[in-house]
Amino acid sequence: MTPTHRPPVQVIPVEGIGEVRPGDDLAAMLEPAMRRLELRDHDVVVVTSKIVSKAEGRLVSDADRQSAVAAETVRIVARRGDLVIAETAHGFVCANAGVDASNVDAGSLALLPDDPDGTARYLRTQLSSRLGLVHLGVVITDTFGRAWRTGVVNVAIGCDGLPPLVDLRGRSDDRGRGLEATEVALADEVAGASGLVIAKDAHVPAAIVRGIDRLGGQDAPASTLVRPATEDLFRASPLQALHDRRTVRAFGSGDVPAEAIEEAILAACTAPAPHHTRPWRFSVLISDAARRRYLAAMEAAWRADLETDGIAAEVIDRRIARSNDVLVSAPVLIVPWLSLEGSHSYVDDDRAASERDMFVLSGGAAIQNLLVGLSAQGIAGCWISSSIFCREEARHALGMSEEWLALGTVACGPMPPGHTPDPRPPLDLGAHVDRR
Ligand SMILES: Cc1cc2nc3c(=O)[nH]c(=O)nc-3n(C[C@H](O)[C@H](O)[C@H](O)COP(=O)(O)O)c2cc1C
Repeated sequence: MTPTHRPPVQVIPVEGIGEVRPGDDLAAMLEPAMRRLELRDHDVVVVTSKIVSKAEGRLVSDADRQSAVAAETVRIVARRGDLVIAETAHGFVCANAGVDASNVDAGSLALLPDDPDGTARYLRTQLSSRLGLVHLGVVITDTFGRAWRTGVVNVAIGCDGLPPLVDLRGRSDDRGRGLEATEVALADEVAGASGLVIAKDAHVPAAIVRGIDRLGGQDAPASTLVRPATEDLFRASPLQALHDRRTVRAFGSGDVPAEAIEEAILAACTAPAPHHTRPWRFSVLISDAARRRYLAAMEAAWRADLETDGIAAEVIDRRIARSNDVLVSAPVLIVPWLSLEGSHSYVDDDRAASERDMFVLSGGAAIQNLLVGLSAQGIAGCWISSSIFCREEARHALGMSEEWLALGTVACGPMPPGHTPDPRPPLDLGAHVDRR
């Protein structure tokens, strides 16, 4: 193969821009430096988000940092002490949702620009026309930490006139072997290179990166670099996944992927259990016929119980209808079962009851894992007591043997669109912890 010769890349610091204030026109402020440095076609102008935020007035008082971070957060990914790793409305995942005090006046915090791709577009258009250029690129950067690696690097949060992502799949490596997975985050590489000259402590808020090979990629906004949630295998930290699980009693339309249910059941089966047993089984009811048979058997049993209690017919209908709202509308019902086969026998009732409790506890632990496993994959779920009160009918309806004890029903389905659960009531940790 003929080797391709790449031109050397130059990274040129842009100095002398002066302090940027809210309302300033960044293009006008950058223009003299760009003329001095002889900006030319195919150069990429890299600008830190900090000066964009300042020019666009994205500054707030530092008096209530927590509220500022909360307002910029659409999803908490992980948290420890004061540190919050959060997703912003742009889809970026970064420390404190990008709220940052560096290089701003005391008493202020900078928020990330509202629309960094829009600002990149504006700067490219402005600088191109002011300098008579046609093939300019603009990248707006912020400094992000990275999961698994210490240290921070500059990444692209806005981009125009440059392919942020170059898909090399289908091309060949230097041995002629086809590339199967290589997508180059070109805008991030440009941003990272700019970090070599952009200094937070030396008034260098911009750089020119010269000699970039665009690798034949298509220009696009930096938002292309945000991995879609469905392809994100690292959605939340385990602790945050526990906080995020909520009982959801309504479902969106569509199916639940079979693999997602299997993943959740695998998670369920990691629960602790007595005597090295795995005393659980999960019936996954997807077909209309199976769900109808199971629900009809439970409804009949419940109706009979309520009639025995002397409850008025219309109250019975209302209660059943309310329960059906969740159970009938869920596209998937998972019935968790518990076996007591592996339990030890005792002659006295107390120890026999404790032994049974141990197994029931492990059933609860498995169902909690199941719910967290579903919720961590974006699936709505609700644990409903139902079959606990009509174990025999549930067993018959689903053809389970005497061994199996029903532990309720987990109704699940796609998250309803725009679902935001009510915040949990405040917790007084002191009421739940006994330190001695
Ligand atoms: C064993 C068990 C049975 C439950 N049964 C029902 C039920 O029949 N209907 C229902 O709406 N929620 C049911 N729940 C869910 C609770 O109402 C829910 O966990 C509680 O409201 C707290 O909300 P959260 O799960 O969002 O934290 C049940 C929970 C457990 C542990």
